[in-house]
Amino acid sequence: MLERAGVDVRVGTEREDEGVAPSVMLEGIQWCDVLVSLLTEPIDRALLAANPKLRGVAQYAVGFNNIDVAGATALGLPVSNTPDVLTDSTADLTWALLLAAARRIPEAQEYMKAGRYKLWGPNLLLGADVSPGGNGRRKILGIIGYGRIGAAVAKRAVGFDMDIIAYDLHARAAIDSSGIARWAELEDLLAQSDFVSLHPLLTKETHHLINERALKLMKPTAILVNVSRGPVIDEAALVRALNERWIAGAALDVFEHEPAMAEGLANCENAVIVPHIASASVGTRDKMATMAAENALAHLRGERAPNAVNAEVYSSVAYRERAARALGAT
Ligand code: GLV
Ligand code: GLV
Repeated sequence: MLERAGVDVRVGTEREDEGVAPSVMLEGIQWCDVLVSLLTEPIDRALLAANPKLRGVAQYAVGFNNIDVAGATALGLPVSNTPDVLTDSTADLTWALLLAAARRIPEAQEYMKAGRYKLWGPNLLLGADVSPGGNGRRKILGIIGYGRIGAAVAKRAVGFDMDIIAYDLHARAAIDSSGIARWAELEDLLAQSDFVSLHPLLTKETHHLINERALKLMKPTAILVNVSRGPVIDEAALVRALNERWIAGAALDVFEHEPAMAEGLANCENAVIVPHIASASVGTRDKMATMAAENALAHLRGERAPNAVNAEVYSSVAYRERAARALGAT
């Protein structure tokens, strides 16, 4: 799309297993008019300030905690993301992880592939109940962060006949008006839930929201799912929790020091771990690319981006000055 629109597109790295080095970022930012970014590179104010003619940042992701948005706004730079399109695929993966952890799918598959299945038996690979079926008790799903993705996860839980409780620092109204979830204080949610699923933005307030204390509040039978951002969990504490069975299991798409894992995590048999693939479905990734390109073109043309996360920037003096500088350059 960008090339068809006549844009000179240059890629920071051709390698799929290595991020763009800070020196390459700094060199590249000097000549580019718009930066299309992934969640893997930190984009701080100093970097953005290195090119006074830069017109914007188009992030290919819904999350943008890698970008100093306040710094960008102060510099008059619009930042855009790719919301909504990945809500369903992320909620789907949340459920895939929840069910995989509850029913021990990865362990069961290893068992099969190792040729260990000799005889069906009543106690083979027993997992946790998800629906009320067995003991008749509706399970409690606790959702932390009730934005678009948290709400989509709740919608799916209705089909599993779960009772849904939710906590969000800023979205109590969305919970109260959802018709399917009921508000709970964080500590009550942790203490009551059979499954806890994390969907907050990563901010100072949610960094290590799930720490040792929170993990100890959870039921020993509970399963924790995280598809948000790794640092929401104190991962070293989680490894202790899994090894010492403060909780029954965890299913993680994201990691505190991604792509690294906390020491011992990979050896926890009660952890299901996948490499940040929540939005990795063909349709979603295609649409994310299209949206990022549309946002990038809008930044380039000095138009309002369809998905600016700091739309207030458009009425700022810094934005108008930057637009004037960029026009002066052409
Ligand atoms: C993925 O983690 C995203 O934020 O899009
Ligand atoms: C299991 O396969 C059953 O028939 O109960």
